[in-house]
Amino acid sequence: MSEIIIQGGRKLAGRFRIQGSKNAVLPIMAASLLVGDVTELTNVPRITDVTDMCEILETLGCRCAWKEGHTLLIDAADACPRNIEACLTERMRSSIFLLGPLLARFGEANLHLPGGCCIGKRPIDLHLSGLRSLGAVIHEKEDGVSALRIELRGSQIRLRCPSVGATENILMAAVAAKGYTRIVNCAREPEIVELCLFLNACGADIRGIGSAALQIRGVEPAHLHSVSWQVGGDRIAAATYLYSTAGCGGHIQVDGIYPAYLSQVLDHLRKMGCAIREHGQGVELFSEGNPQSADVVTGPYPAYPTDLQSIAMAVLGRAEGGSSVTERVFEDRFLVAGELEKFGVRLKVSGRRAMIYGTEKLYGASVHATDLRGGAALMVAGLMAEGETLLTDVFHLDRGYEAPEQVLLKLGADIRRIG
Ligand code: UD1
Repeated sequence: MSEIIIQGGRKLAGRFRIQGSKNAVLPIMAASLLVGDVTELTNVPRITDVTDMCEILETLGCRCAWKEGHTLLIDAADACPRNIEACLTERMRSSIFLLGPLLARFGEANLHLPGGCCIGKRPIDLHLSGLRSLGAVIHEKEDGVSALRIELRGSQIRLRCPSVGATENILMAAVAAKGYTRIVNCAREPEIVELCLFLNACGADIRGIGSAALQIRGVEPAHLHSVSWQVGGDRIAAATYLYSTAGCGGHIQVDGIYPAYLSQVLDHLRKMGCAIREHGQGVELFSEGNPQSADVVTGPYPAYPTDLQSIAMAVLGRAEGGSSVTERVFEDRFLVAGELEKFGVRLKVSGRRAMIYGTEKLYGASVHATDLRGGAALMVAGLMAEGETLLTDVFHLDRGYEAPEQVLLKLGADIRRIG
């Protein structure tokens, strides 16, 4: 199993293009099931969540093939709603996205409960109630769900909270339902916008894109056609490298990302003392490497992303003064706190809030990744720390980051992977 070794304390410098977005490509891969033809996706990140999703799609009879470095072809012509083995769906939360497209195209679906990061309860009640409103008959079992549709009919759906996954799942079923659907209080993350644009390019009719109320006019599934689609840049991965530089000091430019998608994050980085220049599709950051304290409160987009709070916490561990991080999306997302303390980060977690009391120096440590973003936080702490850090359970990072050690090595970090 892979491990990452870091000799911390180097400044970072350089310019690079960010990988394609994990959270955009996964629902788009699921949506390719709606189209009985070949979907071509470019700028697809080479991460294990993508290869796992390919494996699931292949189980369903799709053919997935890499054309060049980052171009993925998904041929869904011979797809059928076979049962997917539990060991596959348990690997990733995004397997739940298959429910909507399978119902829309085949009228049936059988799925085990999804896996993913351990960050508190991750119910799927909003996915199921939304699909039920569209006419699906869903049977919940202890270890999964089976769903049938007689006919999907447009409906008015109000989400209790703006769940990203539920919005995407309902959307993918509604595009092929009869009549009009309105999803109110839906999520409006950039990845939702991208899924809507992808579906419209395939022949769907979705309006209100980017707002908290989506209107969908259903079309005949046969009307949906294949497209070639370029996946957008990963805003969370981009921000991970920006925070790394905020903590280590240096000057980097990340291309392939709209600064507007990171506006709350860039505000936070500015409050920490970084100088930031926004380009059309890129962000440039300059840092002296002496971060200042600055609070974080997470929330659904456009608020500060929950996926970045642990990474921000790592950098705040070296800030001057105390900062608070308040988690308002998931109930248990401070799993990494204990591992961060091994670097000398001083923090106190109570409920959904962590207080971080900055300290001048962090020291290299032997730590294990607890989850995807927690693992990234430990990597960032290792880059800032004096001495050697050994990071194990790197498979968590590989779910969402494409060769992060190579990106950081090019930026001047002393980092290598073994195994
Ligand atoms: C997605 C992202 C994840 C990100 C999260 C929040 C992907 C693959 N993952 O996860 O990286 O951290 O959005 O931005 O895109 N909820 C319910 N019932 C449901 C569904 C969700 O109560 O049926 C609650 C959850 O418990 C959580 C909140 O809604 O408290 C937000 O979850 P959701 O937006 O659904 O997150 P995911 O789609 O799982």
